[in-house]
Amino acid sequence: MDALVITGGRRLKGRVRASGAKNAALPIMAAAILADGPLRLRNVPNLADIRTMTRLLRELGVRVEREDRSGDMILANENPGKHLAPYSIMRTMRAGFCVLGPLMARRGKAEVSLPGGCAIGDRPVDLHLKGLRALGARLDVRHGYVVGTSKRLRGAEMYLGGPFGSSVTGTANVLMAAVLARGTTVIECAACEPEVQDLARMLVKMGADIQGIGSPRLLIEGVERLSGAEHTVIPDRIEAGTFLLAAAVTGGDVAVEGARWNDLFSLVHLLREAGAEVEHFDDTLHIRAPRRLRSVDVTTLPFPGFPTDLQAQTLAMLTVADGISVVTEKIYPDRFMHVAELNRMGAAIRKEGPAAVVHGPQKLSGAHVMASDLRASAALVVAALVAEGKTVIHRVYHLDRGYERLEKKLNRLGARIRRIKE
Ligand code: EPZ
Repeated sequence: MDALVITGGRRLKGRVRASGAKNAALPIMAAAILADGPLRLRNVPNLADIRTMTRLLRELGVRVEREDRSGDMILANENPGKHLAPYSIMRTMRAGFCVLGPLMARRGKAEVSLPGGCAIGDRPVDLHLKGLRALGARLDVRHGYVVGTSKRLRGAEMYLGGPFGSSVTGTANVLMAAVLARGTTVIECAACEPEVQDLARMLVKMGADIQGIGSPRLLIEGVERLSGAEHTVIPDRIEAGTFLLAAAVTGGDVAVEGARWNDLFSLVHLLREAGAEVEHFDDTLHIRAPRRLRSVDVTTLPFPGFPTDLQAQTLAMLTVADGISVVTEKIYPDRFMHVAELNRMGAAIRKEGPAAVVHGPQKLSGAHVMASDLRASAALVVAALVAEGKTVIHRVYHLDRGYERLEKKLNRLGARIRRIKE
């Protein structure tokens, strides 16, 4: 296993580019099952989760290749008789569940393992099943698998809101089934996240008829078939946001390319409230942060609210801000595994139900800490950048699931990070 050794206290400065969005690319790859021709995808990041999805799609008879020269990913259906998504693959990556909708719509049969457990809390799939059943799919849960059969799906009206709002991959799954259903589908309380928008735009390029993209009501007119298409995946707003927070915590001056205002305005407003200057030009956000930040309260919510995937990194930044900050988690109330590790580095955070109360500013100091999930690992990196001395982050494979060459990119901005084998 790899660990990262970070020597803190260096101010970040320069330019960095966010890679393609993992959470947009994963469902988009699953859409290959729907297509009659090949999909050519640009800007697909090279990450562990993408490799897992590649394995899963190959298992399902989809040819997946990377072109050496361009880095483009090409996907084409080769063996449409396959329909088993095994636990051995699904246990490591939840997004794999997004093959269920395409399998029901295109192959009429599916056996998809329920996704594995997750360190960020309970993650049910009831909304996925509700939406697909509304379209006429017959789905049973047996021995940890969703076993489904369907004839041609039928369009339907449905409400996909759950106790914590809309569902990102739930909307993606049902949308991918509805595009090939007979007649009209209306999805109320659809997720509006940029990743869902990106999927919808790609489906339109494939010939789908979708109105209301980016709104909580999607109106879909089913079509008989979908063709291949070419698509460039949007940049990763969570990676870009992580760079902005890393710059902020070090009092840095950094331009982040692939940071789109429309995807990140909630973070930009928070950073400005905390005392940073943030300007935007095209797809670049430029942050200049003061030496001492101010405390800020923030609540995570579905898009356009503040993203839960930036909660941990924001909490890390607020440990050194002046005053008391309250960070409330409205998507995953238990997503606070990073709190104990940040406190080991000298942070003063108290968990109060689904919120964390942060007393700042604290002087952080380097320590041995354990990564528990993807964004918690990123939070430890943010904290380590400002901590005095050396921090060793163990189990960084979590980080590698979602960040492409993170330490290389941060080192180019002046950080000092080494990867070691343990
Ligand atoms: C996506 O997960 C992301 N993953 C997550 O990113 C992200 O944290 C999450 O959306 C929220 O933005 C991918 O896109 C691959 P949800 P998803 O369904 O779709 C509840 C990362 O770090 N819910 O939008 O699985 C659920 O428990 C990952 O990159 C139901 O109740 O999340 C949660 O409270 C982690 N029933 C809320 O809805 C359901 O059927 C939102 O979950 C589905 C979800």
